[in-house]
Amino acid sequence: MEQQLRTMQSEMDRTIQSVTDMKELDAIRIKYLGKKGELTVLLKQMGKLSAEEKPVIGKIVNETRAHFEDALQKRQAELKQAADTVRLEKERIDITVDRPAFRLGHRNPLQKTMEELEELFISMGYRVEEGPEVELVENNFDKLNTPLHHPSRDLSDTFYFSENTVLRTHTSPVQVRVMMRQEPPIRMVCTGRTFRFDDVDDTHSPMFHQIEGMVIDKNISMANLIDTLNVFVKRLLGEHTKTRFRPHYFPFTEPSAEVDVSCPHCHGDGCAACNFTGWSMELLGCGMVHPNVLRMCGIDPDVYSGFAFGMGIDRITMVKHGIPNIRLLYENDQRFLEQF
Ligand code: DAH
Repeated sequence: MEQQLRTMQSEMDRTIQSVTDMKELDAIRIKYLGKKGELTVLLKQMGKLSAEEKPVIGKIVNETRAHFEDALQKRQAELKQAADTVRLEKERIDITVDRPAFRLGHRNPLQKTMEELEELFISMGYRVEEGPEVELVENNFDKLNTPLHHPSRDLSDTFYFSENTVLRTHTSPVQVRVMMRQEPPIRMVCTGRTFRFDDVDDTHSPMFHQIEGMVIDKNISMANLIDTLNVFVKRLLGEHTKTRFRPHYFPFTEPSAEVDVSCPHCHGDGCAACNFTGWSMELLGCGMVHPNVLRMCGIDPDVYSGFAFGMGIDRITMVKHGIPNIRLLYENDQRFLEQF
C-alpha cells in the first residue's frame, strides 16, 4: 500500500503540472479526492490494515493528501495568473488617440526683430521705454518742432482720433515723453506700432513699426551719433557693412541725415540687387536734437545736447529674411510664421 501511495503521488504531481485549465484541474481533484477518488478509496481501505501498519500508512496518506492539496492550490494560482494575463492582454484599451499633434505657435518675425534691436541697444547702455499708440497731437507734432503747415500733419497722411489726438505717425513722441519726465543724461530706445494713411502695397502698410533712439547729455556731438550708428549697423547687418550719411531734413533735428547701408549682396561693389550703386536701402533718419525740441521739453539747450534716430522695423525684417511682401508680416498665416 505504501508503494501504491508513492506511485500515486508522483503520478499526481505529473498530471497536475500538465493541466492547462481550471476544468481539467477540477477533474483531477475529483479523480483523487472525490467520493470515489483514488485516494479516498485508499483511505477507506485503511481499516483493513494491521495495528502496526495503520500509523505508518496513515502518516503517508495524510502527507500525500496534504502534498496533493498543496500542489492543486499552487497550480490553480498559476493558472489563474496566466488566465488574467491573457485577459488583460485581450481587453487592453488603447488610450492613445490619433489626432493632429498640438502645434506650438511661432513668434512673428517682426516681434523677433524688435526684441533683437532692443537687446542690442540694451547692451550699449540704453533703456527701453514705451509710449501710447494713441498720442497727443502736441507730442506727435508740436513739441517735435513740426510746424502747423507741415504736410505730415495733413488729414490725408495722419489718422486723427480727435482734434488733439492721433494714431502716432512715428515713435518720436516717445522722445518727448521721456524728456518731459526725466532729467538728462538720457539714453533710450522705444519700439512699437506706428500709423500712416498709406495704401497697402508690397512695401507699405497703414500700420508699421519703428524703433526710436535718443541720447541727451552734456557735450553730445554728431561724432557720437555717427559712431553709435556705425557700431549699431555693423552689429545688425555684419562687420563688413558700410554706412553713408546723407544730409536730410527733419523738423525735430538739426542737422539731420539719412543713413544708407552698403548692399548686403555685393558689399558695395555694385550688383543687380542695388542697381549697381553699391548702396542698398536708406536704413534710418537721424540728427542732432533741435534746440527748440529740447526747450519745449524742459531741457536747457545751452547745457545739454543730444542725438536721435528712428527707423522702420518692417523693412529691416523683410531685408533680413528676404520677405518680398509686407502683407506676409500681418496675415498670421501659420505656413509663413512656421519658418521663423
Ligand atoms: N520720425 C522719423 C520718421 O518717422 C524718423 C526719425 C528721423 C526719427 C530723425 C528721429 C530722427 O528720431 O532724429 O520718418
